[in-house]
Order: sequence, then structure tokens, then C-alpha cells
Amino acid sequence: MRIYKAKDYNDLSRKAANIISAQIIMKPDAVIGLATGASPIGTYKQLIEWYKKGDLDFSEIRTVNLDEYKGLAADNPQSYAYYMHTNLFDSVNIPAENINIPNGLEFDAAIECARYDTVLQKLGGIDLQLLGIGGNGHIGFNEPGNNFDKSTHCVALTENTIQANSRFFDSIDEVPKFAYTMGIKNIMQAKSILLIASGEAKAQAMYDSFYGPITPSCPGSILQLHNNVTVVADEAALSLI
Ligand code: GLP
Repeated sequence: MRIYKAKDYNDLSRKAANIISAQIIMKPDAVIGLATGASPIGTYKQLIEWYKKGDLDFSEIRTVNLDEYKGLAADNPQSYAYYMHTNLFDSVNIPAENINIPNGLEFDAAIECARYDTVLQKLGGIDLQLLGIGGNGHIGFNEPGNNFDKSTHCVALTENTIQANSRFFDSIDEVPKFAYTMGIKNIMQAKSILLIASGEAKAQAMYDSFYGPITPSCPGSILQLHNNVTVVADEAALSLI
């Protein structure tokens, strides 16, 4: 595991974008796993800037997103599909057919989870998986629990996550209670992982993930068992490390 300390959010975003760019340049048809939330917004902005300068080409890149709220359509501004289009896809030359996101509108969890696992399988493995981390140590939407879920599954979001994510909604009642997410095995099978974290609210989760016991009660702790993890975080997120 490599931990890079960033001066601030801008520095973090540039460092993370540099690592993703290197992957795109070295493998123009790479499979990149993408994350949502506040943390990657600066990284995506930086990637767009370099794309517009002509330094990056997404024409062969394939993407696979970690998660999506169950019940939200792709054109709902709170959906992760909408987030990805607004914050990255609509501003770069990625072909629509290369984009993969769980379908929040599929009501039948068994059907959607099986479909998404097949998508992942057909892509032949993720080259670089970008991750944020929840304040409770969740990765994707793999919430703290009694076991590590392997493959794509439907989760009941914890109160902590609903509360944390309510900042993106008009009211807490609008936050969906369920989500589809890649499982821990899907994430761990990525060839490389880049985790970004910013702010004091992540400090405990960062400590527990990288220096605590490996336990499903802190899903991020499983990353200690991956052999190619890069962490880019600001001082506040690393303050307990
Ligand atoms: C959300 C997402 C995660 C994300 C995390 C942190 O619930 N499902 O993929 O990493 O929370 O989000 P943020 O970066 O906004 O703190």
C-alpha cells in the first residue's frame, strides 16, 4: 500500500487524476472502475481539463461504476448515472456503449445483480478501481456488517449513510433506502485500486481501514489484503495515521 499525503483537496484531485491518466495513457482501452460522492468531483474536473487540452483520449476506455441507488432513474438528478454524466461522461469522448452503471430502475434485485456481475465478467477485469470511503468505512455501498458480500448485491443503507448522503437531497426522506453495489470480491479483483479521502470526517474510517483489524464491520479494512492499493488523502483525512 502506498499513501500519498496531499496538501489540500486540489492537490488530492490532481494527484488522483494523474494516476488515472497514467492508466489511460498506458492502456487506452483500460477498464476503469468509477466512484461517486463529493470526493472524486475534483478528480473528474481535472481529467476533463486534460482531455480538453488534448492530453487524454477516452474513445476506447470502458467504465464500470461501483453503485447506484435502487429506485432512481438515470435521468433523476440524484442518481449516480446522472452524476457521472454531469461530472465526467458528457464532457469527454467516451462512447455511451462503454459506460456501465447498475440500473436503479430494475426492481428485481436478483435480475439486476446477475446482469451487473455478467457485465463485470465480460469486461474481463477492472484495471484501476477508484474508491471513496464512507465515514463508517463503507466502500461502494458495502456497508459495515457481519460478512463481506462477494458480488453485486442490493443493500439496505445504514442510517449513518442515509444521513451523510442527505446533503445531496432536498430532505432526508428523499434519500433512497436501498442501493445496488459491486461486492467486495468484485472490488478486490481489480488489478489496482486508488482510494481518495478528504476531510476530518474520514479520519477514523481511514485509520480503521488501513491500521485496524480486517473485519466486515469496517469494509475498507479488506483493502489491506490487496497487493496494489494507492491512497491519496489530505492531511485531515490522514490525521489519525
Ligand atoms: C457514497 C458512495 C461511495 C462514496 C462514499 C463517500 O455513499 N456510495 O461510493 O465513496 O459515499 O462519499 P463522499 O466522497 O461524498 O464523502
